Amino acid sequence: MITGIGLDIVEMSRIHRLDTKSPRFRARVLTDYEQTEYNQLTETRKTEFLAGRFAAKEAYSKAKGTGIGRECSFQDIEIRKDTKGKPAIYFQGIETGLVSITHSKEFAAAQVLLQTI
Ligand SMILES: CC(C)(COP(=O)(O)OP(=O)(O)OC[C@H]1O[C@@H](n2cnc3c(N)ncnc32)[C@H](O)[C@@H]1OP(=O)(O)O)[C@@H](O)C(=O)NCCC(=O)NCCS
Repeated sequence: MITGIGLDIVEMSRIHRLDTKSPRFRARVLTDYEQTEYNQLTETRKTEFLAGRFAAKEAYSKAKGTGIGRECSFQDIEIRKDTKGKPAIYFQGIETGLVSITHSKEFAAAQVLLQTI
């Protein structure tokens, strides 16, 4: 049964501005695992990666119904890819939902679906 859906879109220019201003923004949004991935990317991919994960985490918080906050922080949510590059979403270490991420030159967007078996 589907128990939640969430969608989010972010402007690439906003994420790039926040990311180049200070390392604090990415440290707040990305987990240690995700920061390791981020550090291996080219400059353009860094913005795409960070924007996509920001959108996915906001979309997850909407699917859950809590928004981002005490119940569900950016650090509670992690996106990990399988060997083919397909992302999966984890909440506090447990695989917890389906996620799809996209980016263009101007925007990144993500959709999350929660379901119970
Ligand atoms: C829910 C949240 C993710 C909304 O994100 P947003 O970027 O402000 O707004 P969006 O335009 O993406 O989404 C707004 C819509 O989310 C939906 N929404 C709001 N609260 C929600 C909730 N608890 N659950 C599900 N959906 C929710 C509403 O439908 C809202 O639109 P509406 O008011 O017209 O009905 C919010 O928790 C949030 O922004 N948290 C702060 C994130 C943060 O710390 N950012 C730091 C940037 S430096």
